[in-house]
Amino acid sequence: MQIRHAAIAAMLLCAAASPGWTAPPSPKAQACSPGNVLCVELTTDNDGRPSYAVHRVGREVIAPSRLGVLFTDVPKFERNLEIAELAQDRFDQTWEQPWGERREIRNHYNQLTVTLRERTGRKRDFDVVFRLYDDGIGFRYVFRNQPGLEELNIAEELTEFALAKDATAWWIPAFEWNREEYLYHTTPLQQVGDAQTPITLRTGDGLHVSIHEAALVDYSGMNLTRVEGRRLKAALTPGSGTAAKVSVATPFSTPWRTLQVATRAGDLVESSLILNLNEPNKLGDVSWVKPMKYVGVWWELHMDLKTWGTGARHGATDANVRRHIDFAAEHGFGGVLVEGWNRGWDGDWFGNGEEFSFTESAGDFDLAALSEYARSKGVVLIGHHETSAHAAHYESQLDAAFDLYRRVGVPAVKTGYVADAGQAKVRDAGGNIAYAWHEGQAMANHHLKVVTEAAKRRISVNPHEPVKDTGLRRTYPNWVTREGARGMEFSAWGQPGNPPEHEANLVFTRLLAGPMDYTPGIFGMRTRSSGGIETTWAKQLALYVMIHSPLQMAADLLDNYEKNPGPFQFIKDVPVDWETTRVLNGEIGDYVTIARRERGGDDWYLGSLTDEHARSFEVTLSFLDPGRRYTAQVYRDGDDADYRGNREDIVIEQREVTHADTLILRLAPGGGQAIRFVAH
Ligand code: NOJ
Ligand code: CA
Repeated sequence: MQIRHAAIAAMLLCAAASPGWTAPPSPKAQACSPGNVLCVELTTDNDGRPSYAVHRVGREVIAPSRLGVLFTDVPKFERNLEIAELAQDRFDQTWEQPWGERREIRNHYNQLTVTLRERTGRKRDFDVVFRLYDDGIGFRYVFRNQPGLEELNIAEELTEFALAKDATAWWIPAFEWNREEYLYHTTPLQQVGDAQTPITLRTGDGLHVSIHEAALVDYSGMNLTRVEGRRLKAALTPGSGTAAKVSVATPFSTPWRTLQVATRAGDLVESSLILNLNEPNKLGDVSWVKPMKYVGVWWELHMDLKTWGTGARHGATDANVRRHIDFAAEHGFGGVLVEGWNRGWDGDWFGNGEEFSFTESAGDFDLAALSEYARSKGVVLIGHHETSAHAAHYESQLDAAFDLYRRVGVPAVKTGYVADAGQAKVRDAGGNIAYAWHEGQAMANHHLKVVTEAAKRRISVNPHEPVKDTGLRRTYPNWVTREGARGMEFSAWGQPGNPPEHEANLVFTRLLAGPMDYTPGIFGMRTRSSGGIETTWAKQLALYVMIHSPLQMAADLLDNYEKNPGPFQFIKDVPVDWETTRVLNGEIGDYVTIARRERGGDDWYLGSLTDEHARSFEVTLSFLDPGRRYTAQVYRDGDDADYRGNREDIVIEQREVTHADTLILRLAPGGGQAIRFVAH
């Protein structure tokens, strides 16, 4: 339903009816979410500068905050604006995810479109489109093709998020050399500097807020700069070379700027706002995208037991890969990742992406024969393309690389973009190599090109050092997962490694954006990182429920699994694709408990984890089907478990339960708990 002009017409009529009275310069546009939970109001000031504010059930969440865009070549288009037209719309539809953390998603919003037009001069205009959900808001700028606006060269966005109340913020720094791989800061909002999104906040009056973006297509990723007080402002990732931060032809719609607002921290995790703001699947039948667990020639590389490069310790040897294929087949894993299989790893590969071949094997690695061997055992190889962020070089081989994988039956590829931020290499309009940021417009476009070219060959993609996740998996369901935060590898060699609070932070920050290839499941707790793996074993198991990823690794050395069949059983059992997901409790950075029901089955799985503090809580099992009995297979911290010492102390036990039961979960410092509820 559309009500064009309705509200504004009423206001302007009112003005016209009073002789000698001119229309107010800043009439308001207002709309609320379907349940009247969140409301937005847009106004323009005397100079014609637009701003918006957000309320949640009468409480101000976002104080008046600017809207608009600064161009490199269009003067004063960010002021001298008036509200020229309004349109409203509603939408309520439930759609199905081909894979994911839940099967069905309701997309229920009210839409408000505000057309802002220059008051004088050329009278050019653009729209601000708001989508109002009960659990969040998305808004974007829409530019029509019009005289004087055939193309947009964007210097910066003016979009602001001025928090109405003091808050605590969980954030990682933006524009730093190590891209997205930083430990989370927990600070007062007033100490945030340049931050990446998602950024998560808890306000003094108890609201949980996450600011991020959805559908980052042909645009630069948004970061946030605290300009003063509680005011955060969009800071787009720089463009490549000396170009504008974004250059596009009109018509053009920017990505959605998103704001999730919840009373419970767990509701941020249960929200589907980011997915809902993306376009539906554009790939058609995607039954070929197969969620799976995998093992790989990988942790041994990070532990420096084997090497990517050829030589005496080369990891990707025929014998080692066959051993992994045999292991995967025996224990029910779908895939085997092999890194260091191709030419280019010998020498200093960091920043030397032009050395990589994506079609030529190194050493004695026979891709076709090993793929065939894997297939004969019901397993697939997972490909690997480390590019050292030389996107242009990679693109020059993309067709051949994916044709090869298609030919030999490799259905998924892990890509990698190891290089300092700002040092990715792309081709500019003149065909020359230019430097680019990992989250700038050029790299956002590169990733989408890789994903769509891969889709043509029925290949799924898992980028590391990626562009951030903005929910494009809805539109391109072969974009199954990615890294984009400090993964488990930091606990292999990082100084420091990941501290006990890391995953309790991730669940409420990075993971709000989408799946992550975190690579959990480590039992060998002593590593090259001085702290080793700073969790208990039970927490390693809990991570499989906590961190959703359709490609989910059992990351440890095979020996460590063979030696520990008890806890390994949970890693074998746990699914990677879910019918539904519930967050039972949680506080950002402290602890969280999640229950998920497997897709295509009746079993439930529960994961719970804590930071460095021991905790115990009662959870009711009311999520279980009331009509059934379940055997709860419990993997819990032993009495002496502690991330500082007894990390391996785990108790595995069983009991019969129903939905009417309550469980007490006792988590050790740095600990966790994992439970499989087997339905009878
Ligand atoms: C960094 C990735 O995160 C890691 O998983 C990979 O092994 C190396 N790059 C080499 O590509
Ligand atoms: Ca990485």
